[in-house]
Amino acid sequence: MEVRANLSKEATAVAQMFDEVSPRYDITNTILTFGQVFAWRAAVTRAVQVRPGMKILDLACGTGASTASLAKAGADVTGCDFSEGMIREGLRRRPHLNLIQGDAMDLPFENESFDAVTMSYGLRNVQNPMRALEEMYRVIRPGGRLVVAEFSTPRSQPMHSLYTFYITRVLPAISKVVSSDGAAYDYLHESIMDWPDKDELSLMIGEAGWVNVQWRPLSFGTVAIHRAVRPL
Ligand SMILES: C[S@@+](CC[C@H](N)C(=O)[O-])C[C@H]1O[C@@H](n2cnc3c(N)ncnc32)[C@H](O)[C@@H]1O
Repeated sequence: MEVRANLSKEATAVAQMFDEVSPRYDITNTILTFGQVFAWRAAVTRAVQVRPGMKILDLACGTGASTASLAKAGADVTGCDFSEGMIREGLRRRPHLNLIQGDAMDLPFENESFDAVTMSYGLRNVQNPMRALEEMYRVIRPGGRLVVAEFSTPRSQPMHSLYTFYITRVLPAISKVVSSDGAAYDYLHESIMDWPDKDELSLMIGEAGWVNVQWRPLSFGTVAIHRAVRPL
């Protein structure tokens, strides 16, 4: 069955869509990003400045690919995602990880229980991203760090045109062949085109209470990593 969410990002529809893509999520990701996703994960791990034993929440962890990168660096990491299918597939592929089901808008964790929180390619899919930023703030200790990786749109005009062509024409065609639910990848390009740019996202992060908000572009600005700190 092909399931696809739309820009209203209704939670049940988004979770069901990720349930459907879960069996082939990792391989589709690798193909659609030409393997760039591995460099992006390494960049997130560096941005967190992982120290051994550091308690990290990897929110919207999906199949745990982002979680595994942090665990490999020595973190005590908990992955959390609201898609049952993604968590099931993650535990099948990576049984050593601690992955649990939970909603970014109502996190099942005590206040100030982590040293850092990461969210890779998840915030764009949350119905109320401001609420998720506030929830992440709540569960991080004062002085703790936020790292958000998300797709973005390049600022240079030629690169912007090339990227738009890729995500609106090429990506849907490839995903229909390699994914277990090609229709879901139509939502992918719609949600990327609709997502705020880097400065606007920085403002949202600041409005949720985070300070020292910074971003850096990856892969010609097609991805951005935002960092911020919960004030002491
Ligand atoms: C594109 S995947 C990213 C997975 C993983 N972080 C990675 O880098 O491969 C986005 C994930 O966000 C999750 N997600 C979307 N909205 C969510 C919410 N409100 N609460 C928890 N997870 C959510 C989806 O279920 C999906 O697994």
